[in-house]
Amino acid sequence: MTATLCKALKIVPTKSDISTLARAAAAIMVADNSISTSNTEHFMKLGFVGTGALTAAIVTGLKSIGDNSVSVLLSPRNEEIAASLAARFEDVQVAADNQAVLDGSDTVMLAVRPQVAHEVIPSLRFRPDHRVVSLIATLSLKEIATLVAPAHRLIKALPMPMIASRQGATIICPPDKDVAAFFGKLGKAIEVENAHEFDALSVVTATYASFFKYLDTIHAWLKTQGVDDLKGRDYIATLFKALANAPDSSPDAGFMHLSQEYATRGGINEQILRQLTNAGLFDTFTQSLDAVHKRIMASQA
Ligand SMILES: NC(=O)c1ccc[n+]([C@@H]2O[C@H](COP(=O)([O-])OP(=O)(O)OC[C@H]3O[C@@H](n4cnc5c(N)ncnc54)[C@H](OP(=O)(O)O)[C@@H]3O)[C@@H](O)[C@H]2O)c1
Repeated sequence: MTATLCKALKIVPTKSDISTLARAAAAIMVADNSISTSNTEHFMKLGFVGTGALTAAIVTGLKSIGDNSVSVLLSPRNEEIAASLAARFEDVQVAADNQAVLDGSDTVMLAVRPQVAHEVIPSLRFRPDHRVVSLIATLSLKEIATLVAPAHRLIKALPMPMIASRQGATIICPPDKDVAAFFGKLGKAIEVENAHEFDALSVVTATYASFFKYLDTIHAWLKTQGVDDLKGRDYIATLFKALANAPDSSPDAGFMHLSQEYATRGGINEQILRQLTNAGLFDTFTQSLDAVHKRIMASQA
């Protein structure tokens, strides 16, 4: 649409022309009622309270989308990260303070650490029309509601750092089509109906380190066999990348079905699966998931 407008206007666009035209084009499309309301995130003035690692990842992912018109207002802390994002991306500015972020935004993402949340958030004046997206994992929606009143459109989201390269998924609760559309463009958004489901899904994010330990165990064993370090790493990484595609290639197959497909009777996959199962490895893993779930729920009690 932006390119068409430039062509029609017979101009060679500068960076700022592109941004202005993208907004104008989007406004025309809405006036025409020619796009669904799920695209209204195009008009978000997005503010962040807390400019740390996660905010940097979201802004990087967002601004890596060529034609987007979401303007971003950052809180001045962390100073270095905020300045670097503002320098790197168009339409990203650093506000004078946290209140200025709220005053200049229609959607506010809360991205401070839980330890300072109770000190920082209640000192701010939210508007009833603010949409608040809390990224603070350990604050329940109920608790956030008390901190951001009179704002009442509240969503909890759990983006992951890989959002910077528009990969991975963000769970959001409760379902919200605009916020889902926003995170959908930065990988995938999974809308969740209730806090229990959200908390259970968030346990999945506690398994990354063990996943890499699993790969490292294979890699370390290869080294004991004299296999070249880089060759072993390359082989493992390439095979597991391909395996990670299997659920997409067979969308109706459960994970156990995929496991059984590889566990040919009497074969070497079946051998390792049986040995690990008999050793109680997967039972222990389930117990670890239970323990993390309890911890997450306790942090929000
Ligand atoms: N990182 C993740 O993978 C991840 C994933 C899911 C959820 N989360 C949640 O997202 C939130 C942010 O995580 P993060 O990893 O981005 O943490 P972080 O890197 O520590 O960022 C938090 C930022 O908040 C800033 N800050 C401190 N006091 C402030 C104040 N009064 N006003 C405004 N900003 C202030 C800090 O600035 P200074 O550096 O100047 O102190 C820091 O840069 C946390 O609640 C975390 O639980 C993180």
